[in-house]
Amino acid sequence: MGQSFSYDVLVIGSGSAGLSVALNLPKNLRVCVVAKADIQEGSTYYAQGGIAAVLDDKDSIEKHIADTLVAGAGLCHDDAVRFTVTNSAAAINWLVDIGVSFTTRVSASGKEELHLTREGGHGERRIAHAADATGKAVSQALIEQLALHDNIEVMAKRVAVDLIVNDGRCQGCYVLNLDSDSVETMNAKTVVLATGGASKAYLFTSNPDGATGDGIALAWRAGCRVANMEFNQFHPTTLYHPNVKSFLISEAVRGEGGRLLLPNGERFMPRFDERGELAPRDIVARAIDHEMKRLGADCMYLDISHKDPDFVREHFPTISQTCLEFGIDITQQPIPVVPAAHYTCGGVMVDECGRTDVDGLYAVGETTFTGLHGANRLASNSLLECIVYGVSAAKHIAARIDTLPTTNQAPDWDESRVTDSDEDVVISHNWDELRRFMWDYVGIVRTDKRLKRALNRVTVLRSEIAEYYSNYRISNDLLELRNLALVSELIIRCAMQRKESRGLHFTLDYPELAAEVTDSMLVPEQA
Ligand code: FAD
Ligand code: SIN
Repeated sequence: MGQSFSYDVLVIGSGSAGLSVALNLPKNLRVCVVAKADIQEGSTYYAQGGIAAVLDDKDSIEKHIADTLVAGAGLCHDDAVRFTVTNSAAAINWLVDIGVSFTTRVSASGKEELHLTREGGHGERRIAHAADATGKAVSQALIEQLALHDNIEVMAKRVAVDLIVNDGRCQGCYVLNLDSDSVETMNAKTVVLATGGASKAYLFTSNPDGATGDGIALAWRAGCRVANMEFNQFHPTTLYHPNVKSFLISEAVRGEGGRLLLPNGERFMPRFDERGELAPRDIVARAIDHEMKRLGADCMYLDISHKDPDFVREHFPTISQTCLEFGIDITQQPIPVVPAAHYTCGGVMVDECGRTDVDGLYAVGETTFTGLHGANRLASNSLLECIVYGVSAAKHIAARIDTLPTTNQAPDWDESRVTDSDEDVVISHNWDELRRFMWDYVGIVRTDKRLKRALNRVTVLRSEIAEYYSNYRISNDLLELRNLALVSELIIRCAMQRKESRGLHFTLDYPELAAEVTDSMLVPEQA
């Protein structure tokens, strides 16, 4: 039988979202952060390009808002965009204060200031970055801060299974301890979901393994609404190489002058958009997909070799070194690239303080739908959202926690009716099948017929998984598959609701924008 614990606040996830919440809570609260792998593992660690913020005199809050709204293709919520952008400089200042080693430069007046790079969809240079490994710098600084907070306990290799909800209030979570293989009961007055996105639903992704939409699935099962799940962002440029699973070639490469080329060396983006390589991601990813299909090519090419080699190596040390390890010298030759699933724009519906529909349950970061991203996230607005909403959620929790009643101890996890599985192949087979049909039928270009096929397949898979789940002892693979299949169904159902092409959702059956602009929302009781 697993152990039982009690906290004031349980934070599920140790990325930029989860740690921003934990570190901004008052030190008199007993806080636990759980993470399903090692503490630094998650998309945050792998972020490359940087964090968008209004920091330059030539820039303004209104300009950053305008760029976010254009990328979001009419679906951003104005209040969420303004809230995020207005707090962007404060977010960067906090990160500087806790020791994030952003790249700097010496200004014309001799002052050291942050170097700001540019990415697609941004009209100004406004991306604060730590060379091309911003996520690593952010993650390391956040983790180092934990040592100064005795009130925060960190438990790695703990997988949240399901939330404990009593009388409409979230009071904790059951958590699988991967070391002891037992399910622990975490009682808490407040729970925060900060579990990241769901891009592992797709065969090809830039995301690390854990991006299986667990928080979205947990929240849905607990009774929370989700919105805009059809908007899964495909990053235009991940490295195409037989021995590489998911390595991103940052948008900042295009921001600093990189050009996209056909296999014959011809530049093609100006044919698709006047902004060329710096058009928003949906447009660039679709253009690459179009050209690959038209030419029957395995990949396109991204070329920055016309720039000074020292400049390239200095700005993109991680990318140039990794490519070199695979025999590609980016200072001399173009990089083979393909689009891959990158970011989940929709998610659990939350307000400005990260509150979900269930009392006592908050959600922050990529797992949420705040209204910031609309139909397409503007590059580098995600880490920003994690920090801004993380700080905001922490403030709200701190203001409210004393008014909450003490939580009752929840009953232990009941394993009396399950046995050890003798057929793990069912799990690996269903993982593969799910990710393949999501890529083929619910990918960059969709149709009604493809979505219907995907819905049929996911319905069968989900019933097989449910049967397996009720008979066998749980494992991380089974939990992730169960969550990913549910989240895939939510993606498909949202995509079926949208009878138009907007932002990241492109369907051959409705290639135009609809006159009416609406979020696609799903409600658990109505499913
Ligand atoms: P994550 O950082 O993914 O953290 C999720 C956490 O939840 C992990 O600790 C994980 O262990 C935990 N977890 C998940 N499920 C469970 C469970 N069931 N139980 C317990 N713990 C669980 N955005 C930008 O703004 N700028 C960039 O330059 C940028 N570059 C990117 C490059 C790459 C390669 C990728 C993949 C993404 C990039 N993004 C970028 C997007 C951005 O990194 C993510 O959206 C952001 O880091 C998400 O942070 P998060 O804290 O919400 O989730
Ligand atoms: C990148 O560096 O291209 C990723 C930026 C992002 O996803 O916001």
